[in-house]
Amino acid sequence: MKIYIGSDHAGFELKSAIKSRFSEGNDFEDFGAFSSESVDYPDFAHKVAERVSGEDGSFGILICGTGNGMAITANKHRGVRAALCWSPEISALARQHNNANILVLPARFISEETAFKTVESFFEAGFDGGRHQKRIEKIDI
Ligand code: RB5
Repeated sequence: MKIYIGSDHAGFELKSAIKSRFSEGNDFEDFGAFSSESVDYPDFAHKVAERVSGEDGSFGILICGTGNGMAITANKHRGVRAALCWSPEISALARQHNNANILVLPARFISEETAFKTVESFFEAGFDGGRHQKRIEKIDI
């Protein structure tokens, strides 16, 4: 699976760990950051969100300290549903109910092990459709 991925400095280490852990069978296009040197999260959120917005059925992962900056920025892009998730249960529901297409992780508030399980769960789950379809159609303004 092709996955667009990005982080700021706070998410850089977790981004590297996720790329290593899930390298088999996945093709990560990494938009940075490429070090722990201080940067601005919108620069990376916009790059990933632009790709996901432009390609139906595509997915992204964004990581910053709390996850909020990445989620707030990515959700400005039409068709992007970026979900801040800190457990495998929440990431599964983000796919099942919200048809989320970007997983956002809070690097400073999640262990590496939980982050891995949260990623696994996000990509294993599918959108339930049905009553949730009409709800997501009401999101864009
Ligand atoms: C960086 O210090 C921090 O503000 C950023 O990673 C993120 O948490 C913003 O939402």
